[in-house]
Amino acid sequence: MRNRVWVMHGVNLDQLGKRDPEHYPAITLTELEMRVGRFARELALEATFFQTNHEGEFCEWLHEAPERTDGLVLNPGAWTHYSYAIRDALEVAALPAIEVHLSDIEGREEWRRRSVIRDVCAGVVQGRGLEGYREALDLLRTSLAGGR
Ligand code: DQA
Repeated sequence: MRNRVWVMHGVNLDQLGKRDPEHYPAITLTELEMRVGRFARELALEATFFQTNHEGEFCEWLHEAPERTDGLVLNPGAWTHYSYAIRDALEVAALPAIEVHLSDIEGREEWRRRSVIRDVCAGVVQGRGLEGYREALDLLRTSLAGGR
């Protein structure tokens, strides 16, 4: 079965633990990755983690992704709202991808409501904090199994 997953974080997600507690959990990215790694193992998925603050690097990982993984769970941070470069790289990668956001991007500022990557993702989970990653992995597993 195809079970390799890249869990990709974009700009400012390395600052978790210092971000607004009204919207983000009080854990570091390292802690989040450990927890998400556990969720993945429970679902028989093999997760590898990435984070960068450089948009071009994020795109280059997406270029390599089809050779090295079966699916993506991605939280591009603020790039979600305006990076056509990431959106296009995701389209080229043509892998099942689930968009995830810790906070409820629909219930915050107007400019966060728009996601330019949504049309190239198989699903989205938002506003569910850390638990949202379990849901995202579960959705991805369904996609990988050919369910959607
Ligand atoms: C975020 C939401 C984005 O609007 C924001 O810029 C982030 C994190 C989230 O996980 O809720 O950096 O993607």
